Amino acid sequence: MATATPSLPRIEASGLEDVVAATTRLSDVDGDNGRLVLAGSPVEDVAGTLSFEQAIGLLWHGSIPTPSEATRIREALGEAREAAYERIPELGDALALPDAMDALRAAMGHLAVRANEDPFTEALRITAATAVFAAAWARSPAPLRPDPRLGHAADYLRMVTGHPAAPPAVAALDAYLVTVVDHGMNASTFAARVVASTASDTVSAVVAAIGALKGRLHGGAPGPVLDMLDAIGEPAAAHAWMTSALARGERIMGMGHRVYRVRDPRAFVLERAVARLEAAEGSASSAGRRLHLARAVENEAVAVLTARHPDRPLKANVEFYTAILLEAIGLPRTLFTPTFAASRVFGWCAHVNEQRAVGRLIRPKSRYVDAPPRV
Ligand code: COA
Repeated sequence: MATATPSLPRIEASGLEDVVAATTRLSDVDGDNGRLVLAGSPVEDVAGTLSFEQAIGLLWHGSIPTPSEATRIREALGEAREAAYERIPELGDALALPDAMDALRAAMGHLAVRANEDPFTEALRITAATAVFAAAWARSPAPLRPDPRLGHAADYLRMVTGHPAAPPAVAALDAYLVTVVDHGMNASTFAARVVASTASDTVSAVVAAIGALKGRLHGGAPGPVLDMLDAIGEPAAAHAWMTSALARGERIMGMGHRVYRVRDPRAFVLERAVARLEAAEGSASSAGRRLHLARAVENEAVAVLTARHPDRPLKANVEFYTAILLEAIGLPRTLFTPTFAASRVFGWCAHVNEQRAVGRLIRPKSRYVDAPPRV
């Protein structure tokens, strides 16, 4: 029989809030003012404007790639997707696991660790594999072969859905992938940096990060956001649903953030991306109807949470509109968190690269609170 874990006294900042654990050139999160900067560019300027390929060039090199540089990244990613696809037969039962994140974690663990590989080439190889393995899980046991002529977003969508993706859907996915590629010292990035700090390899760091991302407090929220919208059904039912969920001690998924004290800037960017889809498809489309319900539920959630926590602003976070966007472009909700990983993996690799340059083991302390040793 399982024994209950005795509760321990909490230290101040038990979630390491406000602790600065690294310096980085990759992104800056300003929680008070709701600003996110990706390698010098506000997220609003790059999401919806740059392709994923351009954004990862920006993140790695610090400036937006020229057209020919972007083409080289696109071709390298395409070749890396093909190479990852060729490895699928070596993954054993990994892609047969019922949970997509368990499958992704297991599949990524099979990637080769190559000493002396150029770090950018390695980041592209690992990034490509994440998308290919996630899509392969969705279509297991008959994954689709990548098409290296396509952009990364278009090919991912095609590999998942089985048909060529419409340009507005590709644009929406590119906007999403760019929006979530990096975000300061979030839990999965921290996990990756801790592993890298031990002088371990990048694949191990990415596998650890996938484990962290899977949790519902981090990357696992968007599926439950849609479950919540399904359960609410119509705007008029939102208030009663929220009140009873909170009375049961549940958290409202897609609301609240460790760092942001205002609405997450990524929620604005993704809401706009969904609104563009709605404009392309019409307000009576399923994207349009979802957006209408989501906005009403968000307003109600903010009102209920403000009444409950007047001193702790709890607003929509990135996951709220992630759910709406990924559903609108035809991804199954089981693939929402793996799709998050398909973008953030590049951020993890870039952080691993930075951490290696620091070259110092991350090793905090704990406070022992049990009885002193008997003498
Ligand atoms: N719904 C209901 N209550 C919430 C809440 C939510 N989404 N988020 C925070 N709260 C409550 C907490 O229960 C806590 O209440 P208490 O003081 O009565 O115990 C209070 O607000 C303060 O929260 P705190 O513990 O400081 O938040 P955190 O920084 O540890 O948590 C999250 C941040 C993201 C983990 C949290 O907001 C959450 O669980 N959100 C839902 C999951 C989600 O959307 N995750 C994706 C994040 S991008």
